[in-house]
Amino acid sequence: MDWFETTAEAQRRAQKRLPPSVYSALVAGSEQGITVADNLSAFGELGFAPHIAGLSGKRDMATTVMGQSLSLPVIISPTGVQAVNPDGEVAVARAAAARGTAMGLSSFASKPIEEVAAVNPQTFFQMYWTGGRDKLVGRMERARAAGAVGLIITTDWSFSSGRDWGSPAIPEKMDLRAMLRFAPEAVRRPRWLFDFARAGRVPDLSAPNLADGGAAPTFFGAYGEWMQTPLPTWEDISWLREQWGGPFMLKGVMRVDDAKRAVDAGVTAISVSNHGGNNLDGTPAPIRALPAIAEAVGQQVEIVLDGGVRRGSDVVKAVALGARAVMIGRAYLWGLAAGGQAGVENVLDILRGGIDSALLGLGLSSVHDLSAADLVVPAGFRRDLGL
Ligand SMILES: Cc1cc2nc3c(=O)[nH]c(=O)nc-3n(C[C@H](O)[C@H](O)[C@H](O)COP(=O)(O)O)c2cc1C
Repeated sequence: MDWFETTAEAQRRAQKRLPPSVYSALVAGSEQGITVADNLSAFGELGFAPHIAGLSGKRDMATTVMGQSLSLPVIISPTGVQAVNPDGEVAVARAAAARGTAMGLSSFASKPIEEVAAVNPQTFFQMYWTGGRDKLVGRMERARAAGAVGLIITTDWSFSSGRDWGSPAIPEKMDLRAMLRFAPEAVRRPRWLFDFARAGRVPDLSAPNLADGGAAPTFFGAYGEWMQTPLPTWEDISWLREQWGGPFMLKGVMRVDDAKRAVDAGVTAISVSNHGGNNLDGTPAPIRALPAIAEAVGQQVEIVLDGGVRRGSDVVKAVALGARAVMIGRAYLWGLAAGGQAGVENVLDILRGGIDSALLGLGLSSVHDLSAADLVVPAGFRRDLGL
């Protein structure tokens, strides 16, 4: 794989390499795309005021999240998109391990937790509230037995399905009929096809981590179960946290009142997140909601942020506004599509380099010294939700 210098270049390569419907499944977003755009542009509104002499020759960026030591404050966010690369989440987990960070594995992932945790011992298993209490416990215990070291529960989903730019037609499963229908766009992407041919597989559209001891459900079967499951209460979240008993993250918090409820539910960590703009369109960028949440509960829980992180300076901005670390979604998906494991390592290296440059320019020797005073925060930037 040829090295790329930014995640924007990785995205360009992903677009060239992937069949259009696979690429658009990664672009994702909902409705008008207001949120997905704000996630990116909000970082651009924040500025830096660099020093030019007396700078630090050594910059430290190691940290810990949910009891895991990380070599940089960047974690792989769970994403349930398959068919990007034959090794899928295993390649991502290997890359994360090689670069010293943790892997979030989606319960909608295409690879079983056993294979992923085997290559990255710092694996967190992510669950949606689907199937009800018994099934959730069964899946959680399977993840524990496989070696998962933390649980992420994601509840910010409102089943909106329309996108103004159109949704890809995802087949129920990759059978012969689906492959023939898919063939015209796949043959125009020979390298992507070749990767799967070499691996001797067709893209997998099932969810092995939701198998419950039987056959893995199809993606749509799993989605149907989720839609029919009664929605969780705060008591349910506390209950699940107790069942797990270990490091536990609630992902998708955007409001101060919800962050306080998460504290009451006993969570270890929250992710300030709007699901990468895939949930309720019109939700502001998480980086705008972060300061108020960090002020309210930053002493009580670990706070991470995800949504719109594409460069190391974004990571630095999030840490300066109160996050302990960030999680990345599309950034590594572009890397995976562009170059498999090496592509994801390339993305993590870009972020590490960018964090280092920002710390250097700011005259700091550690991410732990960052504060809002290092940023130019324009008036009206913040969105203090649920105060
Ligand atoms: C294609 C795609 C699939 C996703 N699947 C999941 C998932 O299965 N579980 C989950 O908790 N979040 C999921 N997310 C959300 C990500 O974990 C993360 O919150 C988001 O991608 C962060 O925004 P970013 O892509 O701008 O980095 C998904 C995001 C994308 C783009």
